Amino acid sequence: MATLKIVKFGDPMLRKISKPVSEINDRTQTLIDDMIETMREQDGVGLAGVQVGVLRRIFVVEVEEGKVYTFINPEILATSGEQDDPEGCLSNPGEYGMVRRPMYVTAKATGRDGKEFTVEAEGLFARAILHEYDHLEGRIYTDLQYREATEKDFRKKNK
Ligand code: NI
Repeated sequence: MATLKIVKFGDPMLRKISKPVSEINDRTQTLIDDMIETMREQDGVGLAGVQVGVLRRIFVVEVEEGKVYTFINPEILATSGEQDDPEGCLSNPGEYGMVRRPMYVTAKATGRDGKEFTVEAEGLFARAILHEYDHLEGRIYTDLQYREATEKDFRKKNK
């Protein structure tokens, strides 16, 4: 496994729309392993292919330690509710903004085993899925940010 270089905000790459993954092969498996290692090394909860220079519809999410989800060619099936919390991105280290997102999301994707799965996510997990999905569409969280996050926002969140 290897850690990968992360594409940073300001790079036009992050504005491109990712293409579907056509085949899950050995290279895909290596990419997934490397993405997980890179996400963990940077203490992130999610990482999309485009962020490591791979313009394919793939991302990894690990909100609960040890429980990694790999989303290949994901679809957002439904969203509901609302949450307001600080949000950051490994492509924009050290910065956080307040972003309103749905509280619940139902998403469908192919896993690294090639099998399709559906997940119902809530809270931070839902936020992470939607944040990473945005990356596949060339969107970044600052597009949705209504102000910068303050210390107080984080204290409120950890209560
Ligand atoms: Ni991000």
